[in-house]
Amino acid sequence: MASKNALITGITGQDGAYLARLLVDKGYQVFGLHARRSTDTLWRLRYLDVLDQVQLIDGDLCDQGSAIRAMQKSQAVEVYNLAAQSFVGTSWEQPALTGQVTGLGATHMLEAVRIVNPQARFYQASTSEMFGLIQETVQSETTPFYPRSPYGAAKLYAHWMTVNYRESFNLHASSGILFNHESPLRGIEFVTRKVTDAVARIKLGKAKELRLGNIDAKRDWGFAGDYVEAMWLMLQQDTPDDYVVATGTTTTVRDMCRIAFAHVGLNHEDHVVIDPRFYRPAEVDVLLGNPGKAEAKLGWKAKTDLETLITMMVDADLARVAKE
Ligand code: NAP
Ligand code: GDD
Repeated sequence: MASKNALITGITGQDGAYLARLLVDKGYQVFGLHARRSTDTLWRLRYLDVLDQVQLIDGDLCDQGSAIRAMQKSQAVEVYNLAAQSFVGTSWEQPALTGQVTGLGATHMLEAVRIVNPQARFYQASTSEMFGLIQETVQSETTPFYPRSPYGAAKLYAHWMTVNYRESFNLHASSGILFNHESPLRGIEFVTRKVTDAVARIKLGKAKELRLGNIDAKRDWGFAGDYVEAMWLMLQQDTPDDYVVATGTTTTVRDMCRIAFAHVGLNHEDHVVIDPRFYRPAEVDVLLGNPGKAEAKLGWKAKTDLETLITMMVDADLARVAKE
């Protein structure tokens, strides 16, 4: 079979790196939109040993021309729009930028697909943050949205634009409504990685405490390596659609901490300090997804439970911190 070309925006992020690895392993020619930065953003691609097997295209999602050129240069038949300002906390400090990248950026990619190759299949990285102030105890594709952050509002716009381009222009455009997913490649600002990094530092005598905000918040956490398979499966379907991708289990930040500290023989209560600086202006108290449709239609199911995920992350951080 001739190899297919795929374009990933956000290829330097957590999911971009796992997806690049998955697609390269499946025989794709993988291209990535790469925004110029003054610091190294390629470490995740190196970590998964895939940097040499992808082709980076210089461009920024805020720039319509970049999106069009990326489509032209890559000749992609599958487009995965993962680029975003993805940290919820920052979205209150940079709401307009978040709207531009996370919201309007998706429209730039949809336009690029429509202009350059309307036959290409498009994946939008939608999010459980769109459920925000949850309207149903278990959230599915039919649960009404109620975003609680500028990030959630920007993602909701991008989500509806994806639906709109599917209905208006017949694009093969799908949205994955993904619940939180983590890995050793997670950004340090997100709570799981902040915890596992701190556990490693405390265990190795390099830190004493971990300052957190609302540890009563509950999230449905899965492993990023499992979740990128669901993205790919969505683009292999004859018909585009929207899918919730989740584990179907929810856990408090407090219990996630307990697992992480216990893995190295420590008690989280001895080290966690509550610091109001990490409270958010509006909180998403609980998220719990119903992955039934993804299981029935895509044959996808989360394979990694929270304990396995968190211990994998603690072990990776122990190795990283020990080398510093
Ligand atoms: P991430 O690690 O924060 O990666 C974000 C990516 O977007 C990075 O490659 C970043 O590039 C790129 N980017 C940011 N601004 C850009 C711009 N103006 N132009 C081009 N690229 C830009 O996020 P992630 O965890 O991999 O998540 C991937 C996507 O899924 C995001 O859209 C996120 O909002 C969404 N999502 C994530 C989760 C989750 O739990 N992880 C759940 C639901 C949805 P740099 O490396 O140069 O900064
Ligand atoms: N980051 C962070 N730092 N979160 C904390 C802290 C802290 O010190 N203390 C408590 N939390 C709580 C947050 O208030 C939130 O309720 C929860 O931990 C998870 O926070 P994050 O890990 O930052 O993730 P998120 O749920 O806000 O957003 C992530 O998941 C979304 C999907 O639901 C991001 O990956 C988004 O991009 C993604 O769309």
